Amino acid sequence: MALKAEYCRVPIEVIQRYGGEVPFDLYLRLSDDKLVRVGHANDNVKDTVAHYIEKGVKEIFAIKDDYLRFVDLMNKELTSKFFDVDTSSDEKIKILQSSFSVLKEALCKIGIQEKSITLARELAKKSGELISKQMFTKELFAKYKNQCSSEYIRCLFVGSVVMSMFDNLEWQSESVRQHAMEALLLRDILLSPDDFVSLKQNREMPKKLPTHVYNHPLDVVKLMTQDGCRDFSQDVQIMIEQHHERPDGVGFPGQVADTSISLMSAMIIVADEFIDRMIDSAFDFDKRMLVLNELLGIFKKGNYRKALNVLNLGID
Ligand SMILES: [Fe+2]
Repeated sequence: MALKAEYCRVPIEVIQRYGGEVPFDLYLRLSDDKLVRVGHANDNVKDTVAHYIEKGVKEIFAIKDDYLRFVDLMNKELTSKFFDVDTSSDEKIKILQSSFSVLKEALCKIGIQEKSITLARELAKKSGELISKQMFTKELFAKYKNQCSSEYIRCLFVGSVVMSMFDNLEWQSESVRQHAMEALLLRDILLSPDDFVSLKQNREMPKKLPTHVYNHPLDVVKLMTQDGCRDFSQDVQIMIEQHHERPDGVGFPGQVADTSISLMSAMIIVADEFIDRMIDSAFDFDKRMLVLNELLGIFKKGNYRKALNVLNLGID
């Protein structure tokens, strides 16, 4: 039996960080359908949780109704601690990763809510600030790999490529940069680790993907516009809808023709392909020109080629 929907996962590292300040009860899963309370609101649960982690426990839960208060706590961490000069860069990455985990859980289990929208916005902004100061490198990848989920690391790396593309576009602005980061953060929010494996395995044959994976670009947009929500701009929605499309209409789920791909979607698609190939080459910077040459053979027309041209300008 699946875990009851009324419980949400709380990232363990956040409980360790907050210690006695978690303002709600925490639960441990004993079996698929049985949970036991391990900490009362505002108890100092640091030692209790450390004890369970030692015993091999990997997940701690909170009741769904309490979870939005937790989303709020993450919002406060992002807005206050992030600007504190005493917060180290390692600590900042931990805060960003925890915020991403909380956002994913909140959106998947609770749906779209004002507090989650605020968290998505802030997280996109802070992630953009983090990567605007550094270029993707092997060292950075190795460092983040130990601290971030592969989903969030990918958002940062593809984001850094997209941000460098914007540097070479005349019409770029803070607002379009923010939109691109929001799209990168949210596009795969409904996918599980197994779904990412499935995406990788079926890269050349998307028709073989499970239906929920094949349709995730549309389902994420549906979630973001739930109950008439208009907080996410049209370009964010289009970027998410089109992020798995490919030249000559061989992508999914819409098999969108080259002429209908927006420039911002094309930037994300080209950056994704570039990062995939850089990861395959273990971030060998000497191979980046070779990779760009390979991309010339894939992205030949329209906005795809425009996106590749601005990438080229930023890589030289
Ligand atoms: Fe995706």
